[in-house]
Amino acid sequence: MEAAIRNYEDVDSWKTVMFLYSAAIKEVGTKLEILNDEFHHVHQYNPIEHIKTRIKTPESIVKKLKKNGYEITIENMIKNINDIAGVRLICSFTSDIYKLAEMIGNQSDLKVLAIKDYIKNPKESGYKSYHMIVSVPIFLSDSVVDTKVEIQIRTIAMDFWASLEHKIYYKFEGNAPEYISRELKECAEMVSSLDEKMLSLNEAILKCLEEQKK
Ligand code: GTP
Ligand code: MG
Repeated sequence: MEAAIRNYEDVDSWKTVMFLYSAAIKEVGTKLEILNDEFHHVHQYNPIEHIKTRIKTPESIVKKLKKNGYEITIENMIKNINDIAGVRLICSFTSDIYKLAEMIGNQSDLKVLAIKDYIKNPKESGYKSYHMIVSVPIFLSDSVVDTKVEIQIRTIAMDFWASLEHKIYYKFEGNAPEYISRELKECAEMVSSLDEKMLSLNEAILKCLEEQKK
């Protein structure tokens, strides 16, 4: 993307960069909707419950650059912030997450730049999700610009926990009393067992249906 931006200090460059990120979100969002529709068409089942997208606000971009010790420039933002364009996929079961990750990895026009599996390796907070940083080509009238998008894939239960934890923790700006962090982590464990139970119930139901067909 750097090559597409001539003058990093220019307001127009900022607008161009934000335009590219918003185009990238549209591309990836549409792509995932099509994959979901195709999956439904073939298997009569939707792996994605819903899709949320967002662009990072200028305030939060500046805050993250400062936090990581970078000078506030457009160049640093393009190079060092991977989640300016964000797409979140919410699915029913943990198994859907890996199905989707595989489907995304198989898209020949998406480049997978990084993967963080916080389901196999949850964060200290208890946070679980599957993260992918991908780059998508944006076709402009006279050039093609590869643009980064962060895709977070999680179950409804993981999303419920992450949204509420973010809300609660945000109020403390990271300095929550120890017992609050501990209880939030306990909630994360409850959410995980709920996910496991729902998955095994779903598998049991599918098996029953198979038996009935025989
Ligand atoms: P950020 O600077 O937070 O973006 O982290 P990072 O660039 O090191 O990447 P990481 O994969 O750790 O986290 C990326 C994103 O995952 C965050 O922006 C959040 O949306 C989400 N996330 C990570 N950890 C937590 C957590 O403990 N709680 C919640 N609610 N969300 C989290
Ligand atoms: Mg982030």
